[in-house]
Amino acid sequence: MRSGPSLRNVDSHALIHEAVLEEAKELTELLARCLSRGETDKALDIAWIAVEHWESRTLQHAQSEEEGLYVEALELKPQLKDVITALTRDHQLLRELVAEIRDCLERGEVGDQVVYRFQALILVDQLHNRYEEDMVEKEMEAVRHDASSGPEIDGFAAG
Ligand SMILES: [Fe+2]
Ligand SMILES: [Fe+2]
Repeated sequence: MRSGPSLRNVDSHALIHEAVLEEAKELTELLARCLSRGETDKALDIAWIAVEHWESRTLQHAQSEEEGLYVEALELKPQLKDVITALTRDHQLLRELVAEIRDCLERGEVGDQVVYRFQALILVDQLHNRYEEDMVEKEMEAVRHDASSGPEIDGFAAG
């Protein structure tokens, strides 16, 4: 599967990251506020919305990168293998934190341990996005421009 031009373009890719993280931050703040007011039932509802947000947006995004963008990066530059391995490991950490939160919520537990994990997700994702955007900008856009007379012209024109 080829990723659309949007993930191969650093600006549009960064916009996706930013929008999704902003929503995640708002949900985490809302969750922390409910907990500080002792609104446990409402906190549990918000935590479920937040974990499903991470699954349907960020983890889904990660999976499509592993099936598309990262495969393309390795095709363009096999020497990016270590970078791709590191980025994929970041995705794995995100998945593990999401799974831990889901376990807590399934047991009806919502408290600081859940908030800490949502905060960790945000921080790990921010760092991950920075490295990933860097790779797209420095390694993939340059190659795409170099190859603009070659088979990548469609992606270039559409991007
Ligand atoms: Fe990613
Ligand atoms: Fe990404």
